[in-house]
Amino acid sequence: MKRVLVLYYSQTGQLTNVVNSFTKPLLESSEVEVVYQKIEPEIPYPFPWNKLEFFDIFPESVYMDGCEIREFEVDEEEEFDLVILAYTVWFLSPSIPITGFLNSKYAKLLKNRPVITLIACRNMWIMAQEKVKKRLEKLGATLIDNVVLVDQGSSMVTFITTPRWMWTGKKGAFWGFPRAGVSQKEIARASRFGLALRDALSADLEREKKPLLVGLEAVKIEEKTISVEKVGHRSFLIWGKLVKLFGKTGAVARIPILGLYFLFLLTAICTIVPILMLTKPIIRAINRKNVIKERTFFEMPSGRGDERLREYSE
Ligand SMILES: Cc1cc2nc3c(=O)[nH]c(=O)nc-3n(C[C@H](O)[C@H](O)[C@H](O)COP(=O)(O)O)c2cc1C
Repeated sequence: MKRVLVLYYSQTGQLTNVVNSFTKPLLESSEVEVVYQKIEPEIPYPFPWNKLEFFDIFPESVYMDGCEIREFEVDEEEEFDLVILAYTVWFLSPSIPITGFLNSKYAKLLKNRPVITLIACRNMWIMAQEKVKKRLEKLGATLIDNVVLVDQGSSMVTFITTPRWMWTGKKGAFWGFPRAGVSQKEIARASRFGLALRDALSADLEREKKPLLVGLEAVKIEEKTISVEKVGHRSFLIWGKLVKLFGKTGAVARIPILGLYFLFLLTAICTIVPILMLTKPIIRAINRKNVIKERTFFEMPSGRGDERLREYSE
């Protein structure tokens, strides 16, 4: 019997649905015991978010300060054959409750284990995953796979639909825009990973600590998001440091500087982003080889290949 630990934090339940679809084939297998452990912040985050509360957490997200999390039902000394760490992205970083877990005594659960990360977010997860990769390495865990589901629609579309959902709680389609979040079809399709994992576990392949989910379209990076994420993350680090000088999350003294940051963000979106969008395709075309190399690096370890899709599509 294989023991699989599933760690997750979801605010609206979207990531929980992804986790359930992904792990359904494991749950149905008599050879696998699946243990779900919800990560819960001591003080829950609001939903829907008011805009001030939303932006007020960006410095702590980016600097991975984390938060206090509730006691686990799982003991930190328990042994598992594999761990699935499912997380969402907040400000190009793992969400604060996930960082809270990574900073806690329970992170010990990852030590010496093969780990699969499962992400459901708008579409900007590369920097967050790089940060998680570093933490996993420090904790003695081996990242063997990464699966990413992103919100439906183009970057322009989700730039409207995702914040609207976060700030108003409204997820439905409107004015020609699609429903916010990951499509129901993509969530249902996530079961292909569970099917492949079930077979891999039954062949003891997790012991080799090598990727088990290649060939299943686990990730697909749009090249243009790489530079946007890099620039965005750098600006978050600079502004985040500045905001932190004015106190902790919730401090009234942070409001003016957050206001200033918001203005900077709006100006950047109206100036830097269009400039990047116009110039980057040319630079990418000239630099094609390096761009593909970088994209391939960020898509590792599971990659964008689709050669096993037919075998594992339900
Ligand atoms: C404070 C905050 C910041 C976010 N920042 C990002 C981001 O940088 N990149 C991204 O792709 N999604 C971002 N999202 C969207 C989330 O990753 C996720 O899709 C959404 O919160 C729904 O997840 P849930 O399952 O927790 O409800 C952000 C959401 C919140 C609440």
